[in-house]
Amino acid sequence: MSEDGFISLAEPFLGENARRYVLDCLETNFVSSVGPYVDRFEREFAAYVGTAHAVACASGTAALHIAMRLIDLAPGDEVLVPTLTFIASANPILYERGTPVLVDSEARSWNLDPEPILTELSRRARAGARQPKALMLVHLLGRPADLAPLVAACDHHGIHLIEDAAEALGGHYTAGPFIGRQVGTIGRIGCFSFNGNKLITTGGGGMLVTDDAAFAKRAKHLTTQARLPGAAYWHDEVGYNYRLTNMAAALGVAQLEQLPDLLARKRLIAERYGAALAALPGVTLPAAVPGSTASHWLYSILVADQGLRDKLVTALAAERIQVRPIWTPLHRMPMYADCPRLGQDTADDLADRGLSLPCSAGLTAEQQQRVIQALYSRLAH
Ligand SMILES: Cc1ncc(COP(=O)(O)O)c(C=O)c1O
Repeated sequence: MSEDGFISLAEPFLGENARRYVLDCLETNFVSSVGPYVDRFEREFAAYVGTAHAVACASGTAALHIAMRLIDLAPGDEVLVPTLTFIASANPILYERGTPVLVDSEARSWNLDPEPILTELSRRARAGARQPKALMLVHLLGRPADLAPLVAACDHHGIHLIEDAAEALGGHYTAGPFIGRQVGTIGRIGCFSFNGNKLITTGGGGMLVTDDAAFAKRAKHLTTQARLPGAAYWHDEVGYNYRLTNMAAALGVAQLEQLPDLLARKRLIAERYGAALAALPGVTLPAAVPGSTASHWLYSILVADQGLRDKLVTALAAERIQVRPIWTPLHRMPMYADCPRLGQDTADDLADRGLSLPCSAGLTAEQQQRVIQALYSRLAH
């Protein structure tokens, strides 16, 4: 946290081993994409989330793009995706010339609403119409999505379930058919981000997890320019340079060691906000999703209307407190404006009134109190 009183939304919280492991890379000269930390990070990440395989990538977006390639997404293939998400959940669909089908959000969890999806899949089945190729399910802001009905529907209709768990590392289910399972491990493929503002960071990076050995092998191949082993530069398909460097992976290994502490800190911050803001008139706090534990990545509230939300962003910025609107729904942006949509306007309402509050793992109680005071001084009557 900066010394000049600025409170940022979400910034890295690095422990001593981050320095040690990165120094190790420098001292051994393994600074690039070869080196022991990449394998170790993949192994330890897979063990943490509980999948057979993990493939490190240059970013969460890269991991999602590889996921689209693994399912052989072809031009015109439809992929269901929430309209309220960070744009990287959907862009990889367009990279492959697929058609995003934008799904509305559920008011309680802000995750995508299963109802219009289930209705549409049944309608198509009755009409003998083609089903979407995949569902890109996002665990928004760290809250595990209501997966059970969607998993059953995807199985039934032969739809690939991909989980965008970029924001939700550590989130897991505590009841129901997926009890004990981490987010990102239930679909055929799960993707995580290690961008600087995420639960753990590698500076920039991502991970693709799967239980499917063939998927994991091809994912590694695609992230390394689809180059075949051997001295000749022989590539058997179009791949990418989507590798994670050894230095980045070294940070990842250190951050993974810190993860239980980071999650505990995030939880405490969420609990403090919950207790302090519950009495504020006109504010809706994030609801817990029954049967799950969130990662509490970003603590986001709803205020009365968009005008007030925008005023708060400006007013708190003047007090050196960074608060942010949540994302603009995809359907409002030109690249997505013509995409088919399912559901109504809940996503618009959440986007207009949503406000994310500072919640870095290193946020002190005093700093958090400053944020709470700033909100009280403008919202309490
Ligand atoms: C929901 C979601 N998906 C995908 C990404 C993309 O991850 P990255 O920034 O590592 O490419 C992010 C975050 O940045 C995200 O929040």
